[in-house]
Amino acid sequence: MKILGIETSCDETSVSVVEDGYKLHSLVVNSQIDIHKAFGGVVPEIAARSHIEVMLPVIEQALGEAKCTWDEIDGIAVTRGPGLLGSLLIGVLTAKTLAWAKNIPLYPVHHIMGHVYANFITQQVGANDYNLPNKPPAFPFLSLVVSGGHSQLMLFESHDKCRIIGKTRDDAVGEAFDKVAKILGLPYPGGPSVSKAAQAGNPTKYRLPIAKLDNPYEFSFSGLKTAVLRAVQRECGVSLDFPSFELAGLLNEVQVNDFAASFQSTAIQTLLSATEKAVFEFKPTAVVLAGGVAANRSLRDSLASQLNVPVQMTDIRLCTDNGAMIAARGFYEAQAGSSLSPHDMTVLPNYQIPQLV
Ligand code: KG4
Ligand code: ZN
Repeated sequence: MKILGIETSCDETSVSVVEDGYKLHSLVVNSQIDIHKAFGGVVPEIAARSHIEVMLPVIEQALGEAKCTWDEIDGIAVTRGPGLLGSLLIGVLTAKTLAWAKNIPLYPVHHIMGHVYANFITQQVGANDYNLPNKPPAFPFLSLVVSGGHSQLMLFESHDKCRIIGKTRDDAVGEAFDKVAKILGLPYPGGPSVSKAAQAGNPTKYRLPIAKLDNPYEFSFSGLKTAVLRAVQRECGVSLDFPSFELAGLLNEVQVNDFAASFQSTAIQTLLSATEKAVFEFKPTAVVLAGGVAANRSLRDSLASQLNVPVQMTDIRLCTDNGAMIAARGFYEAQAGSSLSPHDMTVLPNYQIPQLV
């Protein structure tokens, strides 16, 4: 069963053809990073307009690269939420229209479920330049989902039975990377630029706090971000009301690198310690690392070396938003019979993860 997956929840317009939830035929990602860079973050109206401009050519290219005609597509899967309203609307309206016009079943996909299911892609047709796992994760597995909008630990007992066992109380870890990058004057997107600066820094230079919460599987990153701000203010010898956007101009490169490394190592320690406790309690077969922040090499290395279960993480290019993860999860939505009529499909910008129990 070949599914065309469409992802437009934030600043990537991406379309992919995936067969039976694991065989990648094509993947096209049109990233808007260069457009939003000048603004230091995603501008929702500009994101939506850019999705409109490239949506149809990206679909054409994904079909072309998969050497597929519409007659061979058995389903259209689309991110229904969560995400930016205007961005989601473009993908969902396109998917609805195509499903109706071509008479193809339409499957709604939760964006976070999509991130986890990127790890079920194990084969690539044609040029094999993705570094894919050789088998899908076995149930029950624990997934650490870390992105710009979410940080959570999920326990999957089957494709249609999963629950969130802990999540962030405030900021997502990717959001913390992005905000710390702004404090340090590093370019958008913050995750990759903080992790690059961190490579040259000393992670023990600045002592930053790890939030202690009652629920051992919950995270908090808002305090960590504020702790970085306070430490930078102290280091620069300025008062608390000094404009934060002017702080970076007072830091030298060594200080920036040391702050980036100290922040990154504290954020990773926070994620590692909650995941370790969850592994001990729930005894999963594996930990599946997913979401944009899963592209962070130090996080990957720390989890792989310090957890005493196998850690599955897919190719770095499949960690950030893409249509393949949506097509992969779409296959299991099809297996569960959860198609929606184009008339009933709406966008859900605050879509809560379905508690499948
Ligand atoms: O999953 P994603 O593409 O979009 C959301 O669903 O949010 O994740 C984007 C987030 C951003 O916050 C970005 O800064 C972060 O992932 N990110 C990283 C890295 N690459 C992307 N964070 C840390 N290290 C990275 N290498
Ligand atoms: Zn995402």
